[in-house]
Amino acid sequence: MLNITITETYDEMSALAAQYVVRALHEKPELVMALPTGGTPVGMLAEMCHLARVGAADFSRAFSFNIDEYIALAKDDPQSYYRFLAHHFYQHVGIPTANTFVPDVLADSLSAECDRYERAIQNHGDFDITVLGIGHDGHIGFNEPQSTHSPVCHVIDLNDETIAANARFFSRQADVPRQAITLGIGTILRSKAIVLIASGHSKAAVMKQLHDCTRIDPLFPASFLLLHSNVTLICDSEAASLI
Ligand code: GLP
Repeated sequence: MLNITITETYDEMSALAAQYVVRALHEKPELVMALPTGGTPVGMLAEMCHLARVGAADFSRAFSFNIDEYIALAKDDPQSYYRFLAHHFYQHVGIPTANTFVPDVLADSLSAECDRYERAIQNHGDFDITVLGIGHDGHIGFNEPQSTHSPVCHVIDLNDETIAANARFFSRQADVPRQAITLGIGTILRSKAIVLIASGHSKAAVMKQLHDCTRIDPLFPASFLLLHSNVTLICDSEAASLI
């Protein structure tokens, strides 16, 4: 069973997740991080910014990789996941831009770009810490439920549920990209530590399923986390309400 910590509030969940990252940063200033996007990590990223501002965390030698990115949004598109991390994190903590990575979703050959991104991660010695969110269908990164999975970075077609869930960030559902590049589940599992955060009633069912899960099911991608020996789930009381 996966190790779970339940906090009373979203803010406590965020602070605890930030502490995991910052503790790892203290051990290794050249920390290699994979960071999530979406609604859930906003508080954690704000706390990491706060810790940097008060001098309790120095990200100037750290490296950060996006877990996923929409095809084919430019890096500076307001909806791009790179822009999300730049806006919520990079521009506040003095991490050098050269240390921040995202797949080039405008590349001529997306499969060659996936190979390049995977190699860039390996060349950095793989992730020291990966922070994940979770989709309502159990997706991690953009690894959607399906019968087979590419273990490495790849292009994925987003399913209707994911498109609908992410439509809240766009003015129209029709604007949500239909494809993305995501880290593979194997890429994620090579991370030395994994922290998964979840918040709110809408995540209660998926967190119960993850908490109770004892078998790997490709139709429930988060179940692959059972293969890793250093996973911490952190969720607030609403997301834990069915556990
Ligand atoms: C998106 C992202 C995931 C994220 C998930 C949950 O689909 N690709 O990486 O974990 O949404 O997002 P939220 O935190 O907004 O619920």
